[in-house]
Amino acid sequence: MVHKNGIETGKSGYLSEFAIIARKKEFPITYTIIHTIHLYAAFIYGGFLFTDNLFLSKIGQSLTPDEAKKAREAFMKHVRKVVPPALIVTVLTGVYMFTQVFGEIPESGMTRFQMLLSLKAFLGLWLGLRGFLQVYLKIDPFVFKSHRFPFILVIIIIALSQFMHL
Ligand code: HEM
Repeated sequence: MVHKNGIETGKSGYLSEFAIIARKKEFPITYTIIHTIHLYAAFIYGGFLFTDNLFLSKIGQSLTPDEAKKAREAFMKHVRKVVPPALIVTVLTGVYMFTQVFGEIPESGMTRFQMLLSLKAFLGLWLGLRGFLQVYLKIDPFVFKSHRFPFILVIIIIALSQFMHL
């Protein structure tokens, strides 16, 4: 079957939000490249948070406090060079994709995709702003020393970025 806006729908005649949205992308190749970069950058940022919360936080169990401090510092020295820029890349590529896929809000109100994407973008921007202020301007707005809070947000953001397509 063919939907009224000309897209082949298969037997069901049902057109998913994704198909409508996919059609709206102005530059599909650019979009795919930016999407891939977003995923790699999110992997680097999120990967660090998983490593820190699941493993690095436990090194104190096998080392003396002094050794643990040294080991963490040896690790963080490299993290500081790579992870904050990865967060910025994640946010910038995310903003680009947002402008491409959000689409117009129907009269009946926001679609589920638009609602979940807005929430994801809000949480992602918050993380980005918080990270930027902390790392580059040395402002710690919410005085969070541990990485548990961004870790939980990243888990939520990743779930939202999958379920928004339902
Ligand atoms: C720390 C922050 C962020 C993380 C960890 C993150 C992670 C992800 C992940 C894992 C995906 C799914 C990619 C896939 O399944 O192929 C995704 C997609 C997406 N992200 Fe982000 N993101 C972040 C921030 C942002 C921000 C700030 C925005 C917008 C302002 C954004 C906009 C998008 C959009 C529009 C998609 C959908 C792409 C598509 O399916 O076409 N993201 N993100």
